[in-house]
Amino acid sequence: MVALVALAPDVVLGTAGVSVTVARFDLLDAHTGGNKGFKLREHLHVAQAGGYTRLLTFGGAWSNHLRAVAAAGARAGLATVGIVRGEPTEPLNPSLQFCQTQGMELVWWDRTTYRRKHEPELLGNLQRQYGPAWVIPEGGHSPEGVRGAMDMYIPGFDAIFCACGTGSTLAGLIAASESPVRLYGVATLKGGDFLYREVGTALGWVGATETPGRWQILTDYHFGGYGRSRPELDAFIHSFQQRSGIPLEPVYTGKLFFALSDQLQKGLLPPGSRVLVLHTGGVFAAPCRD
Ligand SMILES: Cc1ncc(COP(=O)(O)O)c(C=O)c1O
Repeated sequence: MVALVALAPDVVLGTAGVSVTVARFDLLDAHTGGNKGFKLREHLHVAQAGGYTRLLTFGGAWSNHLRAVAAAGARAGLATVGIVRGEPTEPLNPSLQFCQTQGMELVWWDRTTYRRKHEPELLGNLQRQYGPAWVIPEGGHSPEGVRGAMDMYIPGFDAIFCACGTGSTLAGLIAASESPVRLYGVATLKGGDFLYREVGTALGWVGATETPGRWQILTDYHFGGYGRSRPELDAFIHSFQQRSGIPLEPVYTGKLFFALSDQLQKGLLPPGSRVLVLHTGGVFAAPCRD
């Protein structure tokens, strides 16, 4: 069961007349908590049902997804291979060290090759070298991942906020909810408009059709791009944590709560609105900078 925590009115500025509840998915598990366990659940079932003994996936050097696959694979008795974006670093950062302790084999791909990771030829080579493996796309962005994220939907709120990387989580929430519930995804990458397309595609994977009218991507809260922060965001996170006791990080949830606070101050929602914010985890070691 996910814990629901009501925020005191002064914690998120400008909440006059709006109640804010945080769904603490982050507390479900240190490594597969947040949205990760949901997005991976079906992948694990399909892999095991298909007789696979190995999972192969992709991520950056600080990827929460890589960590979650490493942990989930180890628990399920499946070998794991992680294709890591960028140049090898020594020593490994704490996130990759954790992956290694879970038995994940780490393979580094330079950024140019990494960008081509969807190409059949490269996937074929990977299968020949490390397979047979069940391949989980980066971030779990797949029909299986979106179906899993649908289980994160909690009814009883007028508006739901979540952080967006690939858009799978938001798509799952949109697919699982109905009008008049409104959904807001906070883009953590620069140029977040691409998420309208990604979420639209992901809705198609699960047979849901939705126009952007009921949901919106908030694209102005990337603070320079994925994994980047600015003093304003760091100060917000510090103050939020002190007042609420809820840990945030600057890659996803810090930007999410900053956006929520800013949008409520600007009057995005009418007084009386009941808002749910999904804490999707990710609080681990140092902030992502890649
Ligand atoms: C902590 C955290 N929150 C939110 C997200 C964004 O989820 P999605 O990729 O489904 O948009 C991620 C990335 O998967 C994440 O690691």
